[in-house]
Amino acid sequence: MTKLFKYLKPYIWSIIAVFFLTIIQVGVNLELPGYMARIIDEGIMENQTDIIFSVGFIMLSISLAGAVCIVLAGYLAARIATGFAMVVREKVFDKVHDFSLVEFNRFSTSSLITRSTNDIQQIQTIVFMMLRIMLVAPLTAAGAIFQAYRTAPSMTWIMGLAVFVIIGVVVLLWSIVMPKFKLLQKLIDRLNLVTRENLSGLRVIRAFNAEKYEEKKFNQANLDLVDLNLFLNRLLALIQPLMTLISSFAMIMVIWVGARLIGDGSFLVGDMIAFMQYLTLVLFGFMMMSMIFIMLPRAMVSGGRVADVLASEPAIKEPLKSCSFKPGAPAIEFRDVTFAYPEAEYPVLKNITFIAESGKTTALIGSTGSGKSTLLHLITRFYDVSFGHVLIEGVDVRQLKFTDLYGRLGYVPQKGVLFSGTIGSNIKYGAPQADDYRAHAAASVAQASEFIDKTKEGLEASIAQGGTNVSGGQKQRLSIARALVKKPDIFLFDDSFSALDFRTDVALRQALKTETAQATVLIVAQRINTVMNADKIIVLDKGKISGIGKHLDLLKNCAVYKEIALSQLSKEELYKY
Ligand SMILES: Nc1ncnc2c1ncn2[C@@H]1O[C@H](COP(=O)(O)OP(=O)(O)OP(=O)(O)O)[C@@H](O)[C@H]1O
Ligand SMILES: [Mg+2]
Repeated sequence: MTKLFKYLKPYIWSIIAVFFLTIIQVGVNLELPGYMARIIDEGIMENQTDIIFSVGFIMLSISLAGAVCIVLAGYLAARIATGFAMVVREKVFDKVHDFSLVEFNRFSTSSLITRSTNDIQQIQTIVFMMLRIMLVAPLTAAGAIFQAYRTAPSMTWIMGLAVFVIIGVVVLLWSIVMPKFKLLQKLIDRLNLVTRENLSGLRVIRAFNAEKYEEKKFNQANLDLVDLNLFLNRLLALIQPLMTLISSFAMIMVIWVGARLIGDGSFLVGDMIAFMQYLTLVLFGFMMMSMIFIMLPRAMVSGGRVADVLASEPAIKEPLKSCSFKPGAPAIEFRDVTFAYPEAEYPVLKNITFIAESGKTTALIGSTGSGKSTLLHLITRFYDVSFGHVLIEGVDVRQLKFTDLYGRLGYVPQKGVLFSGTIGSNIKYGAPQADDYRAHAAASVAQASEFIDKTKEGLEASIAQGGTNVSGGQKQRLSIARALVKKPDIFLFDDSFSALDFRTDVALRQALKTETAQATVLIVAQRINTVMNADKIIVLDKGKISGIGKHLDLLKNCAVYKEIALSQLSKEELYKY
């Protein structure tokens, strides 16, 4: 939590101003009871109306000054707290952008959402409270104790006793509350997760008639949170009455002891009233401090959670300097690459070595789960290899600046991802400077023109969040168009033709051939049709390469390839080429 305080730096002058205003405010509060005592002892007791008026006027004016200070300090503190929260939120957002999939898996998306919303809100609240109370409370309490002692030294022990009891109560509550707050934020994470899953999986939930089950899951998460919240709030609700009880007892004792002293003639009525006001101030100060101590644990937990995000270094780092590409080197080369997912026991890719020549089409085929997508993710640096090297034009991808690396790549993910906006904004995502003509050309190659033309607005047709208003196949085609507009040197298609019907698949691959004649293409596919024309086919089986070659060679020499091929096409079709 303290690590976050460095973001308060820009507000240092405002903070100093708040402190000064606070000191004035406390000073005013401490002065008032003294004047009150004078009004009573000199004005009322001795019937001097002019003293009542003149001292009353002074009291009014300094109260007014105090009120102005309170308003100003409150305004400044609110500005500091919200500004601080904004900066932290920005930092978290930036940090999360740099995260690799490793960090996403570690934190989980729902937790990252809680951390950047609810947790930061908690921190904002505590910063505001600290600015307003942290200084006011102890200053008021200390000042009031001093003034009370000056007014009536013989009664300060009552004050001491009351303070002692209050501290005892606060420590007790604190020890109960503190561990629960950690749990509370975890439960909010959980509720977030269930809600997110429910919202994004709504169709599946309906289709499987799983509403009851999901409802139960949601209710459980919700109830857990409610129970804990109730428990905490009941406990915190105890504070107010307990404090009132303690202060009432203290007052009764002051009146009881004070009345006897006044009877003896060693004490003035005004002084007793002033003492009672100081006592109220002391108790008020301690009450405020106890509130902070109760709020602090939650904010500390939140602060820790946010600081965790900010402190975690992305596993995938950009090098400081880019190496320059080696002309003539193959576009993509894997050198004895082995890769295991973090926390996984066994590697999913083992000793992968191959070359994808520049300007050629290389295809990657293998059964589901054989590691094809994983292999592409190593080129795009979503993950880094465990052993070995992945080279782009002769340079290890880990030695390339992101702009150099991603400038070369046109990646079409297995699961089409679109952003809310328009068809045009999605196609031009990787090349914002592209004009409509280029966007249309790319769409035409990607076989997306037909459905784009069908919409009234064309490129301006809107895309809903997550691309839910287009079909799976349309999403894939738009993703392909998005990669084409970039005109990259290397295309990576991860099973990008799977959601297309055969006719479109053929048309698309033919159009691609002319469009990508100069480019290196790496196609991942499960369909033999898609790969059989490739210059080179790599067969992946359970994370290992079981064959590299052309279609006919592989049919002869690679049992895995032959098995896949025969399961999809007849012998005649296979040997046609
Ligand atoms: N984030 C991950 N963490 C741990 N293991 C993973 C992760 N992603 C994939 N795997 C595992 O890695 C293996 C290879 O997955 P990959 O996605 O590369 O397969 P694929 O060949 O692309 O399959 P498909 O054809 O179905 O897309 C699988 O066994 C999978 O369980
Ligand atoms: Mg895959």
